[in-house]
Amino acid sequence: MQESLIVEEFANAGYQVSPDAVALIGAYSAPDTIVSKVLQSLDDSVLVVGREHINIGDVKIPEKPADKLAEKLADKLSKPADAPAVNILSDISNESTCVGEYSEFVRYFRDRYTRLSGIIRGRITARPIESLRARHSGREYDSVSIIGMVSDVRTTSNGNKLMEIEDPTGSFPVLVRPSDRDLWAIASGIIHDEVIGVTGSLTRDGRLMIVKSIVLPDLPNRYNQTLPGGGWGINGSEHGNGDGGAGCAALISDVHIGSDTFLGDAFSDFIDWLGDGSLPVQYLIIAGDLVDGIGIYPGQESELEIPDVYDQYRSAAEYLGRVPKNIRIIIAPGNHDAVRLAEPQPALPEKIRSMFSDDVIFTGNPALVEIRGVRILIYHGRSMDDLIATIPKMSYQRPELVMIEMLRRRHLAPMYGGRVSIAPENSDHFVIDRVPHILHCGHVHTIGIDRYKGVTVINSGTWQSQTDFQKRMNLDPVPAHATIVDLATLGTKMVKFA
Ligand SMILES: [Fe+2]
Repeated sequence: MQESLIVEEFANAGYQVSPDAVALIGAYSAPDTIVSKVLQSLDDSVLVVGREHINIGDVKIPEKPADKLAEKLADKLSKPADAPAVNILSDISNESTCVGEYSEFVRYFRDRYTRLSGIIRGRITARPIESLRARHSGREYDSVSIIGMVSDVRTTSNGNKLMEIEDPTGSFPVLVRPSDRDLWAIASGIIHDEVIGVTGSLTRDGRLMIVKSIVLPDLPNRYNQTLPGGGWGINGSEHGNGDGGAGCAALISDVHIGSDTFLGDAFSDFIDWLGDGSLPVQYLIIAGDLVDGIGIYPGQESELEIPDVYDQYRSAAEYLGRVPKNIRIIIAPGNHDAVRLAEPQPALPEKIRSMFSDDVIFTGNPALVEIRGVRILIYHGRSMDDLIATIPKMSYQRPELVMIEMLRRRHLAPMYGGRVSIAPENSDHFVIDRVPHILHCGHVHTIGIDRYKGVTVINSGTWQSQTDFQKRMNLDPVPAHATIVDLATLGTKMVKFA
C-alpha cells in the first residue's frame, strides 16, 4: 500500500494523518489492516492521526520513525537552482523521535531548563535549590540567587505574588511584594514553565525567599545592530532612503486557501506584483496555514470552498507556480496544515510537497533559516493564544508585543498544557538559542512589526477576510498585506493588495 493511499484512506474517513504515522504504517507488511484497526480505535476527539494512535493491540511503535526527509531535503538543496540559496540551521523535520512517553517529557523539560538556565547563569551566580535548605543556619541570608522553572505562580490574599521555583535539585517558594513597582511589573508577566533567575533574601526560618530582582533569559542588550547601508524604517513605515536594491524577502502567512473567505483576487494580485519587479524580491517566506485544511474546528466544512485538503494544496501549488523562478519559496506549516498538530511540526508530507515546484523548500515549524546571512526564525505562533490569555496587556491586535515576550523568555512556547500541544522531542526546539535577525510569526491574522534589542519581529497577517468564528470571537483580521524586508538593512515595508 503506497503512502498516498494510506493518506487517502484516512482522508476519506475524515482524518488528517501525520507523515510519521504514514511512514510507520507503510513499514508494515499489511498496512491496510493496520489502517482499519487504527480507524476503529479513533474517537471523535481526534483530528490528526499521529504515531500515538498506532499503539493499539499488536501494532507497536518501533524505536525510530522511518524518515527520509533529511536525505531528500539535502538532495534538493544541493541541486543547482535559479533561485537564491537557503541554509536551514534548525528544523525538526529530520529529527523527530518522540512517542510521548513520560520519560521523554522529563528529558524535554530538563533540556529546556539546562539551556535557558545556561543563558541566565551568565548574569547571576546561582546556587542549587537544595543548598538553600541545607545551608540554612537560622540567620537571614541577604542575597542568594537561584534559577528555576516556574511550577506555580499566584497572587496571595495579601496581594503578594507567590511563585514556586524548581530546579533539578528541588523547589522553593519565592515572594514578590507589590511595593517595588518595577519588580512587580516583571513578576506580573511571569507564567508557568518559564525559566527565570531570582535573587533575594531568605526569611529567618529559611522557608521563603523575598525577591529583590528577577532575571529573564532575554536577549543581550546590544545584539544585532542595524546592518550598514540605507533602507526602510521599522514599523512598516516607508521612511528611510533605501530601495531594497540589495535584495528583499516577502513575508506572509495564513493564506488559508480553500476557505470561502480566502481572498483569491488579492493573493493573485500579490503573485503578479512579485513578478512585475517593483521590488527585487528574492525570497517568499510563508509562516504556516497555507491552506484552510479540513476538520480543524467544528462546522468548518460549511465554510470551505474547496472541501478536499489535497485539492486545497493543488490550488496553492497553482498560485505559487506563478511566482517567478528567481524567487525562492520557503513554506512552514501551521495548525491548519496537513501535518501533526503537536509542535514542533515536521514539514508537509511528500505527497503534498510533490505538487509544488522542486525549488520550493519545506521546513518544519518552528525552523531557523539563513538567507543572505540573515537568520530568520519562522514560527507559526500558536503559543500566542496562551500568552495573550495569560500575560497582562497582551492582545490579538498587537501581535508584535506578544512576540517580544517570546524573545524575552528566549522561548517560543513557554507554557505547557495550554493550546499548544508539545511533542517531547530530544531537545526543546522552542528555545531560542541562536538569536535571529528576524522573528516571523502568523496565526493571529493581525499585523505587527517592531524591533526589540536589535531583532525585527514581524507578524504578517492573513489572506482571509473575517470568518464567522472570528466574528463570534470579536477578532478583527488584517488581510491581504505582504511585509517586504530589505535584507541589507532589515528595514520593512508593507504592501497592501486589497
Ligand atoms: Fe491561520
